Order: sequence, then structure tokens, then C-alpha cells
Amino acid sequence: MTLYDLRDKVAIITGSGRGIGRAIAIRLAMEKTKVVINAKRGVEEAVETVERIKQIGGEAIYVISDVSTREGCKKLVDKAFEVFGRIDILVNNAGVGLYALFKDLDEQLLEKQISADFRSVVYCSQEALRYMREDSVIVNIASLAGIKPLYGTSIYNAMKAAVIQLTKSMALELAERRVRVFSVAPGFVRTKMGLSYFKVLNIDPDEWAEKHTLIKRLIDPEEVAELVVSLIKIPSFVGETVIIDGGASLI
Ligand SMILES: NC(=O)c1ccc[n+]([C@@H]2O[C@H](COP(=O)([O-])OP(=O)(O)OC[C@H]3O[C@@H](n4cnc5c(N)ncnc54)[C@H](OP(=O)(O)O)[C@@H]3O)[C@@H](O)[C@H]2O)c1
Repeated sequence: MTLYDLRDKVAIITGSGRGIGRAIAIRLAMEKTKVVINAKRGVEEAVETVERIKQIGGEAIYVISDVSTREGCKKLVDKAFEVFGRIDILVNNAGVGLYALFKDLDEQLLEKQISADFRSVVYCSQEALRYMREDSVIVNIASLAGIKPLYGTSIYNAMKAAVIQLTKSMALELAERRVRVFSVAPGFVRTKMGLSYFKVLNIDPDEWAEKHTLIKRLIDPEEVAELVVSLIKIPSFVGETVIIDGGASLI
């Protein structure tokens, strides 16, 4: 058995200025993968991610672009190829989780949620495929919310469910190009986005985790990163979605 070799490969991680994306980027850099950091506006956070990677001897650049638009994805992917001359891995991680009860949600929220969480996956994957050769990997970061709906985030839930289904179709069609596609579905992770949900509902996240997970805490972004990197390495893992939720879906 030969594991997928990450050394000297080039990975783009969308939305990697902070949170899960940053943890994935750092973990890939630990495997000697060259990484392309991306954020929509957060220049300082992107710079900090690059610096952290350089501190551990890794290679990284950052590109500020909005991946909810096709132009944003094209800019990101073109820059990655221009600098590193190849693209082997794309992690479609960028996303937003907007809270609004279904009866109240407006056109603006609908548009933003669909573009940030679903169109970004389509656009960035298509743009990256222009450069990807055989033995490339696309990872889509879905959510447990795409399987077990979260109260007050109906469109987010629906988009994550769409990403899980899209992952299967992409895997099916891209197999002939030997591009492997899979997804990961986390429960609540201790990031700005994860914590913002509790803030909106005025719930203590630690009290919630005590009652609603088997591990009695939120997940750390580094744990999701560890899972993503492990799955990238396993050549037979394709098309499916792995849940990492600290047991939340069992309760
Ligand atoms: N945290 C959780 O509990 C949780 C659970 C399940 C799934 N997830 C999924 O995991 C992914 C990452 O979430 P997170 O918790 O790490 O979020 P986060 O802490 O809010 O970080 C999101 C990152 O994505 C960037 N970003 C957002 N929209 C972007 C866009 N249109 N173009 C480029 N960059 C963009 C942000 O940069 P800017 O600030 O510059 O926009 C930031 O760097 C998302 O897809 C989310 O749905 C999260």
C-alpha cells in the first residue's frame, strides 16, 4: 500500500486566515506541502497564518480574494499556479453561517449563504481543475448541519447538504481524471464561526457541549485538520463524508 505523498505538493485552502482553514494549512505545511492561504478581507489574519507556517519551516503565500465569486476563485487559483507551477490539492473550506429564522430570511442572506457555501465549491473546483493533473485531491468542508439540521440556519444546512451530495457527483465524474473528491462534516468547532452561533442564541458553548456531546467540549480546529490530512493520505477514501462531531449526532 502506498499512501498519498504530501511532500512538495501544492495545496490551496480557501478561507484559511483563521479557524479550521488555518489549522488545515498549518497541518499540511507540517507534511512539507506548499500552501496557498486565502481570506476575503482578513489581510492581517492571512499574513499571520503565513508567518506561522514559515516559523515551522514551511512554504506559503496568501491571496486575498472572495471565493463566493468566480472571479475570486480564478484569481486565487491563477496566483497559486503562477507562484508554484502546479496545484495538487484544493480544500474548499471558506464559508459563512448566517442565523435567521426561515420565515424571516431575506434575499440578501439567501444570496450570501448560497454563494459563500455552495457556489464557492463549484467555482474554485472548476477553476482548479484547469490546472490539476492526475492524482489530485479536492476536499469539501461540509458540516454536521448538512446531515442533522441546526436550528435557525436553514439555508446553511441546505447548502452543506448540497455540498455532501455534490461531493459524490464530483467524485464520480472526476475519477476518470484520477482526481479524488471527498468531504468532512464537523460538529461545533471552537472558531469564530462556531462560537458566533452560541453568541446569537445567548448560550454558553461549554455548557452546551457538556450536555450535547460525548466528549463534553467543542472540537478543536486542529482535530478537524488531523482528520482532513489523514483522509487525503488514504488513496481509497473517495466520494464519502466523514463526520467529526464529538458524538453530538448520537445525543
Ligand atoms: N466552526 C464550526 O463549528 C463549523 C462546523 C462545521 C462546519 N464548519 C465549516 O468549516 C468551514 C470553516 O469554518 P470556521 O469555523 O473555520 O470559520 P471562521 O472561523 O469564520 O473562518 C472563516 C475563514 O474563511 C474566510 N472566508 C469567509 N468567506 C470567504 C469568502 N467568500 N472568500 C474567501 N474567504 C472567506 C474568512 O476570512 P474573512 O474574515 O476575510 O472573510 C476566514 O478566514 C466553513 O465552511 C464552515 O461552514 C464550521
